[in-house]
Amino acid sequence: MDSIKIGIIGMGRIGKIHLQNLCTKIEGVEVTTVANPSKVGQDYATRFGVQNVSNNAEIIFDNPEIDAILICSPSDTHADYAIRAALAGKAIFCEKPIDMSLERAKEVVLKVKACDVPMMVAFNRRFDPDFNKVKIAVSEGKIGTVQSLHIISRDPEPPSIAYIKQSGGLFKDMTIHDLDMARFIMGCEVTEVYATGSCMIDPAIAEAGDIDTATLVLHFENGATAVIENSRKAAYGYDQRLEVFGSKGMLQINNPLMTNVTSANEYGSHSDVNLNFFIDRYATSYLLEMQDFVEALGHRKSMPVHGEDGIKAIVLAEAAYASFREKRPIKIG
Ligand SMILES: NC(=O)c1ccc[n+]([C@@H]2O[C@H](COP(=O)([O-])OP(=O)(O)OC[C@H]3O[C@@H](n4cnc5c(N)ncnc54)[C@H](O)[C@@H]3O)[C@@H](O)[C@H]2O)c1
Repeated sequence: MDSIKIGIIGMGRIGKIHLQNLCTKIEGVEVTTVANPSKVGQDYATRFGVQNVSNNAEIIFDNPEIDAILICSPSDTHADYAIRAALAGKAIFCEKPIDMSLERAKEVVLKVKACDVPMMVAFNRRFDPDFNKVKIAVSEGKIGTVQSLHIISRDPEPPSIAYIKQSGGLFKDMTIHDLDMARFIMGCEVTEVYATGSCMIDPAIAEAGDIDTATLVLHFENGATAVIENSRKAAYGYDQRLEVFGSKGMLQINNPLMTNVTSANEYGSHSDVNLNFFIDRYATSYLLEMQDFVEALGHRKSMPVHGEDGIKAIVLAEAAYASFREKRPIKIG
């Protein structure tokens, strides 16, 4: 079988992770082309043996040899590129969110369907071995009837203000992963969202029109509830924990640490620091999600995460904004 030919748009933090995995760890694929405005990103791709680099993504859409396109550029560019890719008949791997506007994201998914091309939305945490194990245990009834879920998701540092301005805001940029995780673990849909938050970390984030600290309460159609806590800055590093509570027990995910060494002295016992950030904490998930994307493409299987999942997460993020603004719970239609 010929190798699957891939083009990547955007060679920043996430584009580099996907490029590395595709070039060094996944068989049966070849990244032939990378488009990125800056020379730094292009040079990075060249170092991994990518033959064609450009500052113009048309080089990817126009190439009939390319089978699939990874959209790893800033969030406000995803929709245009995804529609362009669909019209060019390419399979799509789209970073989250599909777009900041629900209407535009729906337009993308409809266009992708009309063009009959496969599309996967990059909710990588579903592929993390810990989160995946919890999902399976819950769906097998290991903790009985699920009653509540608690997700804590805190970054070690806020991104640059330039990134924040292009990100769609906290709920669509950061919480969106947790909203998807809540749906994924619970296995049913959210019926109501309440969100509150504020700017506690950097006034420049407020000046950019965003918040950096938030708490959300979700109600699900099965009667269960979830709480999501977000912060753009945890002094102790990347904090990604989850607890799901049911009639027969509880499942918990704690933070993996840099090493397993514990030290003890007259003041107490100390363990190592948390993993640095998403690049380290979710390294395995990025590899597994890309393997599944390639596997689905190669064997013409259904994509493991669908455009509709991307849409549903945006619906919840938009409800969170409405709730935050109007200071009331928002029903999901
Ligand atoms: N799934 C995840 O865990 C995860 C993690 C980080 C980022 N993301 C998503 O990935 C996307 C990129 O985030 P990032 O952290 O890599 O950002 P980044 O700023 O590090 O990288 C973006 C790259 O895109 C390039 N770029 C800018 N405008 C472009 C354009 N019009 N066309 C093509 N390339 C362009 C930039 O030069 C840069 O190299 C965002 O949508 C973000 O939400 C997802």
